This record gives sequence, structure tokens and C-alpha cells, in this order.
Amino acid sequence: MTTYNLAVIPGPGIGAEVVPEAIRVLENTDLQFDYRYFEVGYDVWLKTGSPVPDYVLAEIWKTQACLFGATTTPVGVPGYKSAIITLRNALGLYANVRPAKSYPNTKSMKDVDLVIVRENTEGMYSGWEFEMPDSAYTVRVITRKATERITRFAFNLALKRNKKVTIVTKANVLRKSDGLFLEAARKVAKDYPDVEVEEAFVDVTAMRLILKPNIFDVIVTSNLFGDILSDEAAGLVGGLGLAPSANIGSNYALFEPVHGSAPALAGKGIANPLGQIWCGSMMLQHLGFPEAAELVMNAVEATLKEGTMTPDLGGRSKTGAVTQSVCDNIRKLLRDG
Ligand code: NAI
Ligand code: MG
Repeated sequence: MTTYNLAVIPGPGIGAEVVPEAIRVLENTDLQFDYRYFEVGYDVWLKTGSPVPDYVLAEIWKTQACLFGATTTPVGVPGYKSAIITLRNALGLYANVRPAKSYPNTKSMKDVDLVIVRENTEGMYSGWEFEMPDSAYTVRVITRKATERITRFAFNLALKRNKKVTIVTKANVLRKSDGLFLEAARKVAKDYPDVEVEEAFVDVTAMRLILKPNIFDVIVTSNLFGDILSDEAAGLVGGLGLAPSANIGSNYALFEPVHGSAPALAGKGIANPLGQIWCGSMMLQHLGFPEAAELVMNAVEATLKEGTMTPDLGGRSKTGAVTQSVCDNIRKLLRDG
């Protein structure tokens, strides 16, 4: 049996609590993994001058995928750059993929099943900023190459889902940058005659997500809009504890929950592990094991149906009890075929 090498970066706070839970679940599939643990982030930066030193990056490249927990990014430390953003850039992870789906017993809107595909390398997060006396500027970079790449990714994903893509821009105001985004995305759309295409402005999309989230399948958009809309989408289906994401590149992929290290929650044993467990399922899908990926999510659904959940979802279970229930449900589903 093939053994897959996984990079594991639990990080501080609840990251270190939920990552082992996702690994417990992976151990209950019939796949074999070799886990390689790494440290990145602020403490590493203090010691080495880099949040992700080159020697760590070289080791991460030797693995097939990364399971990432969280980092803590201190605000206002000059010269420090977030570890996760450093990793996204260094590993060429151009697509940020965030699904949101209604699950039973959660405070979720009904019939939500959508994925937000966010461009991860440029847009408003180009990092190109400068100041002048009493004014400050951030350059919104949109390139044809990155837009075509992210749009193609979204359309290929839609082909495997409900075959609809909504292209989200503010092209009526950001005439140059989103004008280019829209033009490049339309061109790609022509290659996918079987996928329904819709164009929408970001402000209207924010409203429709709340009023009619079930009309969406795949949303493709630029970096900042995707960041905001995906947190909104997480809010529709039970909050941050249940929100996974994948960062996908041409040669590597990293899977992380949308939440951070939640320092105030750490040490209490009640962090919701399901976002991280869902990341594990997305990783299985990406590595080419759709059946194992589906098995994990069916087990998660069974666990929520039973009402085994942490307080953020309105339950009373501890982190470990939720994971135990998911593992038990995996075995049950395997037994019942
Ligand atoms: P956070 O996501 O850590 O927590 C926000 C709120 O959501 C808290 O009230 C927390 O109790 C709740 N929450 C989050 N995950 C949960 C879970 N699994 N189960 C139950 N409740 C959960 O965001 P916050 O507080 O803004 O940031 C804390 C630190 O995390 C900061 O240093 C920030 O920079 C970092 N961060 C890192 C991210 C990453 O590693 N990609 C993403 C977001 C924040
Ligand atoms: Mg965000």
C-alpha cells in the first residue's frame, strides 16, 4: 500500500487541538500516511528572521500535501509577514477554495451547498502599498494570466458539481481592474458550454447570499471579495467551527480551516474539530480518494444528526467526543456498506 507523506503544521491555540483530531479521523480510513511535523510563524521568525525558513519550505516540498491548523499573527510588528500568506506565495497556491454546506442540527440556512473560489495571489492583497504625506495607496493588481487560471479552476470544479458558475466583480466601478477580470473570465467560460454562467456585482451577491443562498453553486472572484464573501458564507451554515478551506496550486495543496488560533477558547477542550476534519476530507479528495473523502463527510453528517457537537453549534460535547463519534460513524458506515 502506498504511504503518503503529509506535512502537518498544527500551530498555536486551538490549531494544536483540532489538527490531532483530523489525524485521528484519517487514521480510520484505510489509507496510510506518514506525518511530518513543522513549526512556522512568529516564534520561528523571532529565532530565524523568517516565518517560514527555506529549510522548512524545502522539507514541505517533499510531501504530497499539508494539513495546517492555525497561526497567530501579531498586529503591528514591523517586518513580520503572516506565515500562512508566506506559505501560499512560496508554494504557489493560487486557488483558495471554501465550501459552505447546510448540515443537520446546526444553525444553518436550508439547502446551502456552494463553493467560493477565491483568487489567492493578487487583487487587493498584492502587497503593493505606499504612502505619501497624508495619503496612502494600495494597488489592486489583476492580471489576465491569474484570472484565466482561477476561472478555469472554478469551471472545472463546477463540472463536478451542479454546473453553475457565478463570476463576481465590481466591474461597473473598478472599470479597469475588474473590467479585465470579467473579460478574461468570459473568455474562459466559452470553453465550458455545459456550465451555466452568471455575472454579478459583489454588493448584490453579498445580499443574495443571505436571501437566497441556494441559488449558488460555484462563485469565482478576486482576493478581497472572496475573503469577505467566504466568511459570510461560513456564517450562513453554522460559523467558523465548521468552515474548511483548501489552498491549491499547480504542484502542491494546503488544507486549513477558516478559523484562526482562537486563543480565548484554547485549553478548554471545546474547540469544534469538524472544520479541520472537513479539511482532511478535502485533502483526501485532492489526493485522489473521493470515496474516502465522502465517507468522512457522511460520518460528519451522521455525528451532527445525532446531535454530538461542541458548544459553538449549540451542543455540549467536548472536542474529543465529537471526533470519537465521527470515527465510530466511519466504522458503522463501512460495516453497513
Ligand atoms: P478565530 O477564528 O481564531 O476566532 C474567532 C471566533 O470564532 C472566536 O470567538 C472563537 O471562539 C470562534 N471559533 C473559531 N474557531 C472555532 C472552533 N473551531 N470551535 C469553536 N469556536 C471557534 O479569529 P480571531 O480571534 O480573529 O484570531 C485569533 C488569532 O488567529 C489571530 O492571531 C489571527 O491572526 C489568527 N488567525 C489565523 C488564521 C489562519 O491561521 N489562517 C485565520 C484567522 C485568524
Ligand atoms: Mg478571512
